[in-house]
Amino acid sequence: MEHKKKVLVLTGGGDCPGLNAVIRGITKRARKEKTWEVYGSIEAFNGVLNEPQQIIKLTSRKTAGIHVKGGTILKTTNKGNPLKFPILLKDGSVQELDRSEELVRKIKDLGFDAVINIGGDGSQKISKVLSQKGLNIVGVPKTIDNDLSATDMTFGFQTAVQIATDSFDKLVTTAESHHRVMIMEVMGRDAGWIAIHTAIAGGAEICLIPEIPYDINKVVKRIAARYKEGKGFANIVIAEGAKPKDGTIVAREGEKGSEHVRLGGVAFQLSKQLKDAGCPAEIRETVLGHTQRGGTPVAFDRVLASLFGVKAMELVINGEFGKMVALKNNSISYVSFEEATREYNFVNKDSFLVKAAKGLGITFGD
Ligand code: F6P
Repeated sequence: MEHKKKVLVLTGGGDCPGLNAVIRGITKRARKEKTWEVYGSIEAFNGVLNEPQQIIKLTSRKTAGIHVKGGTILKTTNKGNPLKFPILLKDGSVQELDRSEELVRKIKDLGFDAVINIGGDGSQKISKVLSQKGLNIVGVPKTIDNDLSATDMTFGFQTAVQIATDSFDKLVTTAESHHRVMIMEVMGRDAGWIAIHTAIAGGAEICLIPEIPYDINKVVKRIAARYKEGKGFANIVIAEGAKPKDGTIVAREGEKGSEHVRLGGVAFQLSKQLKDAGCPAEIRETVLGHTQRGGTPVAFDRVLASLFGVKAMELVINGEFGKMVALKNNSISYVSFEEATREYNFVNKDSFLVKAAKGLGITFGD
């Protein structure tokens, strides 16, 4: 009987609409070869590292129709970085352990010929190290935040923008009825992509993003002008990582072993700052939070994710490891892990996107 090759697939970091479409794309493309079997590690690399191990075979029955579903059938975690694996000690403190050598050995011992790691910036940094340690690995970029510079866009971003825009539209009508200022907080830890796209799509007056620290007095002035124009209401989009000039970002400590602090709550901080700066209008705050990461991916994200899945499997079939698939100039290609993780994708305050937003009357508080 012909020896079958085995590829292990996993999803790491925060989830994102489109992950299942990638998984399905990989399995469908692999099936055409007849020489490859696809397996999934549950909860990123934890499925391999934990005892008992949790690895499932991705049969066509398991993956049929999943491209329509949000989340990930393989589950995910941001508490399983094999380079800094969190170990909870008896005294409640957390010790970080480098388990990368153990991970590479375990994957090889299990007979896997290749790995496809679907994840964001943090996950691809892990891919890079594992590749240097001799693992045959291919990366697929994911994040709703669209903050990876090596790909023109990540899947999940369009879905998040659509969800945020739908919510924004709803807030506009109630803002108008009550002559209120509505603050809508969206995700965007370090980059304001979701915020600025939503502000343009929805027609916001004010957009506050991490890349442009805001002057609260300028925000108040813009609101005052709106009321003076006779419009009598205003809509603000703020990214969770936005901060005032000379101010700090609103953050809470993450769960034990988690890789990052928890953001969320800037809408309330902004509301208070507006009041303190003399804004007379009634203000209401809405924090969209994880609704932006949930539910059905829009068609664009399903397509992009499916193409990424097929491409990742083709890299595996051709033995082209150490690479991350990417969207470049409207075609699906790939970059080295070095390039994939070199630069962060910030909104450039001098870009046409920001200039156009300003041209549409959106104030950034700068
Ligand atoms: O990185 C994507 C992201 O959506 C950020 O914008 C947000 O701060 C973070 O995930 C929240 O992740 P979680 O609550 O899952 O830790």
